[in-house]
Amino acid sequence: MKEARVGMKSSWPRVEPAPQQPERLPIGWDKPWLAPLAGYSDLPFRTLCREEGAACCVTEMVSAKGLWYDGLNTWKVLETVPWDTPLVVQLFGAEADCLGWAVRRLREKGFAWFDLNMGCSVPKVARQGAGSAMLRDPDNALACARAMIAAALPGHVSFKLRLGVSRDAVNWLDLALRLEDAGAGLVTLHPRTAQEGFGGRAHWEAIAEAKRRLGIPVLASGDLFTAEDGVRCLKETGADGVMYARGALTRPSVFREHQALLGGEPAGEIPAGELRRLIRRHMELIGSFGSEDNALYRLRSIVPRYVRSLPGVRLLRQKLCACRSLDELDGILDSFLAGSPGLSGPSGPSGMSGGAVRLDKFDPPETSCGPDAPMD
Ligand SMILES: Cc1cc2nc3c(=O)[nH]c(=O)nc-3n(C[C@H](O)[C@H](O)[C@H](O)COP(=O)(O)O)c2cc1C
Repeated sequence: MKEARVGMKSSWPRVEPAPQQPERLPIGWDKPWLAPLAGYSDLPFRTLCREEGAACCVTEMVSAKGLWYDGLNTWKVLETVPWDTPLVVQLFGAEADCLGWAVRRLREKGFAWFDLNMGCSVPKVARQGAGSAMLRDPDNALACARAMIAAALPGHVSFKLRLGVSRDAVNWLDLALRLEDAGAGLVTLHPRTAQEGFGGRAHWEAIAEAKRRLGIPVLASGDLFTAEDGVRCLKETGADGVMYARGALTRPSVFREHQALLGGEPAGEIPAGELRRLIRRHMELIGSFGSEDNALYRLRSIVPRYVRSLPGVRLLRQKLCACRSLDELDGILDSFLAGSPGLSGPSGPSGMSGGAVRLDKFDPPETSCGPDAPMD
């Protein structure tokens, strides 16, 4: 196994999970999670989100087959450190044996909580019968679920589903009920069909139905761009908790804002100073987990996403592409933010509320899924 010890900067991946994953996952209205985000929910971003109040993080989807073949890039996705907890590892795959083996292997490494992706419609994943394609073959999906459940501790496997492959093949409820019978610990619903991609509105009413029909906890995903969206979703659906995805990508402080909003404090603007602090912290975390070259490469795409709604972002991107060191990048960012009022709150002109955020605006630099297709 190609792995290194914590503290050896240059030889990652460090697959060294927290020795003590909790016996129960934090689930509750005041415990917002970071959703799996291919190409984004890596160790530095998870750390940033935890610092901002994320109660639990899910890794991006990891190929069970990739683990089987001991692929270095697959293990890289699982890079972790002892304080990266609680952590759920999301797998994708369509072969029960392979998924069961992957859970056993990951348990040997110290991971304890697992999720199976039943929503991704990227061709590379769906062609294998994995992700959203699992909804086409519920019997195989159930066999895969059983293999994972048998390999894990009771209640330690969850499932993240879409509604079905298309509007005329909506079958999530039947499958979710069967998963519950098989011993699922939790389900997350992104209430759109695979065919809908990220278009239109998420059908939150399906989350309310999941809550009525299932006895296990239900987490909500879908169109949670701001803390206000998250809290409204909880109130409208009765879900047990929410997962922030695109909302966290543009505004990692969404977790703190979520908790503040539940406490009666409305989310306001993010002042430029606070934005600077968030970006600087993300930079520090990326720098501390890898080489400067890699950090620079990642930050060129990460920085603009935080300031995308401010004037002058196009020019900023150009300058970032040309910059050659982290210090230079720091200076460019400082002058960009000088004089900027900061990001508006949820109802302001940030372009982050409602359905305004477009998936194609997120270009994962090193993702296993291309940015051109819906990911879930
Ligand atoms: C860039 C990107 C990558 C994603 N990667 C994954 C993934 O690896 N696994 C998964 O289950 N969902 C993935 N999703 C789906 C999100 O977890 C979430 O369910 C979806 O974006 C809906 O939530 P939102 O509308 O609040 O963003 C991804 C979404 C985006 C935008």
